[in-house]
Order: sequence, then structure tokens, then C-alpha cells
Amino acid sequence: MSEEQKRAVAEFWEQEACGERYGSEQDRIRYELEPEIVTFADFPSARGQEMLEIGVGMGADAVRWASHAARFTGVDLTERAVSITRTRLASARLTADIRVADAESLPFAEGSFDLVWSWGVLHHTPDSDRALAEAARVLRPGGRYAVMVYHRRSWVAIAAWVRYCLLRGRPFASLTDAVARMESPGTRAYTVGELHRRLAPQLVDLSVRPVLTHWDRRLVPVVARVLGDRFGWFLLVDGRRRG
Ligand SMILES: C[S@@+](CC[C@H](N)C(=O)[O-])C[C@H]1O[C@@H](n2cnc3c(N)ncnc32)[C@H](O)[C@@H]1O
Repeated sequence: MSEEQKRAVAEFWEQEACGERYGSEQDRIRYELEPEIVTFADFPSARGQEMLEIGVGMGADAVRWASHAARFTGVDLTERAVSITRTRLASARLTADIRVADAESLPFAEGSFDLVWSWGVLHHTPDSDRALAEAARVLRPGGRYAVMVYHRRSWVAIAAWVRYCLLRGRPFASLTDAVARMESPGTRAYTVGELHRRLAPQLVDLSVRPVLTHWDRRLVPVVARVLGDRFGWFLLVDGRRRG
């Protein structure tokens, strides 16, 4: 069942990589709409590091990371993302190892990287819990875990519930059901507590922080501003691998 779901996820992203609709403006629009990427990532911090990005998509972050890191490896479930990212890195004259691989079972030994980055990816794979643990497994002790996944208690999740559940006569369906209909099939969203419980065995200095996004502000501009980040769509997970 899970393999069937994974094929459906891969087929979805093979049709169109994330942000491909923006064409040559993808890079500019990405960081304009999601400025939190730059502050959270802190790209120059990769200097001298051996790093892995899980779910490279169109490779915008990959270009930035690879220009700082000592060694950059990027994986994605789809050939499309791998091909776009390789082309982009080659045009920037950057060397990297970019390949198709599954976040749920990474082809790297335990403790292979100083930094693991994944933005908007791990909630798309059928066994997201396993993918979250895999990202930590391949980190060296003390290595940085920097991941963004979707937040269930958010304005965007509520809007999805109204659209896919309430307006379709399913008022008793859950936020989990609603989010599963967003983007690729079976998308998952977490709470802060769930991520703390799941990652605490592998990570220290763990911080899980919601951030209000462009997508939340578009839905409820005034309320969102008053309430701040609390019900934001993105959860930024930052931590270090236990030694
Ligand atoms: C929303 S896009 C995000 C891509 C990129 N990180 C970005 O921010 O634009 C989700 C990406 O996750 C990839 N993906 C989904 N499931 C995956 C898995 N099990 N292993 C590796 N990549 C996966 C998809 O192929 C797609 O490129």
C-alpha cells in the first residue's frame, strides 16, 4: 500500500516540479514568497561542511548550499527534480552529487553528514515519520538538522478543511483528512508536540517553531497579523544529532 502511495507521490511531482510554473522567475518568486527560507537556512553556515539536501525540487536552495558547502549531496524521489537541479548546478559551475533516492530509506551510512536540510518535503512521503528519523540517522553527532514540515494547527490547514471537508458535506472530517488532499496525495501535517516527541530520542537542542507564511496571511490577513506566528503553516525544526 505504501509503495503504491509512494508511486502516486512520485507521479504527482514528475508532472511538474515544485515552483516550475514560475518558469525563469522561480528563484526570485520563491524567496520573495518564502523569505523565512533564507533566515532559517543560513546558507553561509554550510562553509566547510558535508551536507545533504532531501527533496531538492528545482534546486534553488541546492545552488546556494553548494556554493558554500565542502561537499553537497542532494536527493529527490523524481528524475525531473534531479535533472533540473543538475542542470542548474552545472550552469553555476558547482560540483555536487545529485541523485534519485527515497527519503524513507536514504542510501547513506549513519553519521555521513554535518548538516541535513529539507524544505517542504518529508510531509509528502507516505511514511513521514520514518523519513524524519532517516534525516537524523545520517547526521554525525552534533550535526545540524534543519527541516520544514507543514503545521496542522494552522490557517492553511483550516482553509483546506473548509474547502475539502465542510463545503463537501463532511463537517466531521479531520484537519488530517483535509491536508491529505493538498498537493501530492496523502500530505501530512504535524503539531509542535508530535515533532518534539518523535525527534527527541535522536536530537538535542531541539526547537520546533511555527512561522506565519504568505499563504496564511493571504487567507486571514488581519487575524493572522494579530495572532502572530502561532498558527502559521510552516513548522521549522532545528536541532543537533545526539552524540
Ligand atoms: C513541495 S516540493 C519541495 C521541493 C524543494 N525542497 C522546494 O522547497 O522547492 C516536494 C519535493 O519532495 C520530493 N519528495 C517527495 N517524497 C519524497 C521521498 N520519499 N524522497 C525524496 N523526495 C521526495 C518530491 O519529488 C518534490 O520534489
